[in-house]
Amino acid sequence: MPGGTRTGTDSYQATDVAYPGPVDRPRRLRTTPAMRRLVAQTRLHPADLVLPVFVRDGISEPAPISSMPGVLQHTPDSLVEAAREAIDLGVGGIMVFGVPRDVDKDAVGSAGLAPYGVLNAALRRLRDELGDETVLMSDLCLDEFTDHGHCGVLDDAGRVDNDATLQVYAQMAVAQARAGAHVVGPSGMMDGQVAVVRAALDAAGHQDVAVLAYTAKYASAAYGPFREAVASTLKGDRSTYQQDPANRTESLRELRLDLAQGADLVMVKPALPYLDVLADVAAVADVPVAAYQVSGEYLMIEAAAANGWLDRDRMVLETLTSIRRAGAQLILTYYAVHAARLLGGRVGA
Ligand code: PBG
Repeated sequence: MPGGTRTGTDSYQATDVAYPGPVDRPRRLRTTPAMRRLVAQTRLHPADLVLPVFVRDGISEPAPISSMPGVLQHTPDSLVEAAREAIDLGVGGIMVFGVPRDVDKDAVGSAGLAPYGVLNAALRRLRDELGDETVLMSDLCLDEFTDHGHCGVLDDAGRVDNDATLQVYAQMAVAQARAGAHVVGPSGMMDGQVAVVRAALDAAGHQDVAVLAYTAKYASAAYGPFREAVASTLKGDRSTYQQDPANRTESLRELRLDLAQGADLVMVKPALPYLDVLADVAAVADVPVAAYQVSGEYLMIEAAAANGWLDRDRMVLETLTSIRRAGAQLILTYYAVHAARLLGGRVGA
């Protein structure tokens, strides 16, 4: 071998002759699109995506959400159309959030329990029209329905009362199951919520309704645009029940508790700023792990793309791929339909 001694790795014993080049060339596996596709370790598929949707009471036309360009508050009719579009594109499921009229909000969130409240009515309509064609999921939380905007009921001192809230979640879970949800998603971060929801569902004969636990849910500024989407009245923040962004191990504790309480699926939220947490959870969970690319993550891409500062479609696919690579099997994303379209040419690739 001219030019010195190749050692079988990239280490090279320099001599006075020209360097012959590296032995190991990782770039060989990047040479063509077909080669890159062959060796790709992470694939996106529309079936792994879940579309979060909003249904709002008292509107006759779908309403845009200014903080979430491209996302709508739906009427029951437009919600069914949006769900059908998602199904046609192969999207795996939909997660429904209800937005009641202001006059229907109260201290305990009664509109979330009412069988014909906005969310339960929408679930009933979707299940009637779509049957088992998709997986119908419902947000199980009080913040959209309370006049104070917190995820639970308050005690006399104005604090969120964990155990009193659990009683309301139990009723809400049964109401959502009766309305047709295949999966309920308790998102309020009350201690013991999965156990209470599971017991209530079982007692009411809904053994087949699954629980998607919001297991590691951080108190994040990235929920800002969502608060407009659900017309939230929250003052203050949720730091006494959602997790501190500074903490990592705590998510493993939350996971252990949720699994012990019977969670069928677990979720990490937000997604992109918490890939370390997602990887931790995915490494040990023995149920499917989901991640939620939340409203603020969506908005950051939209705002930058609207300014021409980055390529929206590449950013969408890259962020979703990264969330999958870190360990999410399922991703809740406002881009579910858009991404399914982008993937159209390479589904199953
Ligand atoms: C609570 C809930 C929130 C989100 C999903 N479920 C808001 C919150 O915790 O403050 C946020 C989702 C998003 O930002 O896209 N019902």
